[in-house]
Amino acid sequence: MTNQDFLPIRGYDHVEFYVGNAKQAAYFYDRVFGFKPVAKLGLETGIRDRASYVMKQGNVKFVLTNALGPDSEIARHCTLHGDGVKTVALEVRDVEQAIREARAREATVVQPVEAQEDENGVLKTGIIQYAGDTVIKFVERTNYHGVFAPGYMPLDVEGADSVGFAAIDHIVTNVELGQMDYWARWFERVLGFAQLTHFTDEDISTEYSALMSKVMENGTGKCKFPINEPAEGKKKSQIAEYLDFYHGPGVQHIAMNTKDICDTVRKLRAKNLDFLRVPDTYYETLTDRVGEIDEDINELHELGILVDRDEDGYLLQIFTQPLQDRPTLFFEVIERHGSRGFGVGNFKALFISLEREQAKRGNL
Ligand code: FE2
Repeated sequence: MTNQDFLPIRGYDHVEFYVGNAKQAAYFYDRVFGFKPVAKLGLETGIRDRASYVMKQGNVKFVLTNALGPDSEIARHCTLHGDGVKTVALEVRDVEQAIREARAREATVVQPVEAQEDENGVLKTGIIQYAGDTVIKFVERTNYHGVFAPGYMPLDVEGADSVGFAAIDHIVTNVELGQMDYWARWFERVLGFAQLTHFTDEDISTEYSALMSKVMENGTGKCKFPINEPAEGKKKSQIAEYLDFYHGPGVQHIAMNTKDICDTVRKLRAKNLDFLRVPDTYYETLTDRVGEIDEDINELHELGILVDRDEDGYLLQIFTQPLQDRPTLFFEVIERHGSRGFGVGNFKALFISLEREQAKRGNL
């Protein structure tokens, strides 16, 4: 039996964000990102202390939750961290087993196995502590056939058109200086993940900032969790800036797969979504660096899409600006053509672009 068999994970189930105003966030995720509101919980469903909207696109499910009063963990989370990711939910075959294994491997169990039931069946969940205030939730939905979870009211809203997000590709966490190895080993020990790659500050550094990253992956390769820590730079790194404004470790970005990144980015740009821009010179040497690709380089240039190649193939990617006023959470859109990497070849160009933004914020 391999190390990976003790906690089989089927894939990402959903990501829950704690936000200041879930109703307005739902509108933004619908209108800009093309997520369809599919279920809701709140006063209408007899819940008095919070409201949640379930937003769906392809296989990506986001839950947007806000508090309805000042005295709750949700309100405290928002005050401290701003809008951000509270829960990364993973689908497992057997929650009892997942919690048992995680507990035996010294994870902190925040919520033991809980079974919720309605006319659509039984949904089982269990929660363990992850970095900072972030938690990992195991979800067993084999015996549940409702829209999302018991207690949620299905919504019949048309929603904006999809922009082509198909699935979550990876979820990146920023941790404090010296903590990357702890969390990499935590993924191995608690969840049976293996280390896919490792980037040192030699790979990822500019004049101003440097970071180190280890990428952890589950047995099926469906779930990938890069973990970043700041490295000593001449000035404040983007990871240190995140940690300052998030007030601790947490999710830095979520990458979503698309089958046609040009179409996705064109649709997002039409809604005035802001992306990071690399200098025009990036495209002058692109073919030399990545060789032949199927896409038209002029189109990639126009849309600001980046390309990277490794031994398995290439990938196309783009990063949004932070999604809230704090320079914390952002999204990535990615289209893979064989490559299983993360675009390390783009990091330098990107960091220079990030530092330009940091300087504008007075944080460099
Ligand atoms: Fe990424």
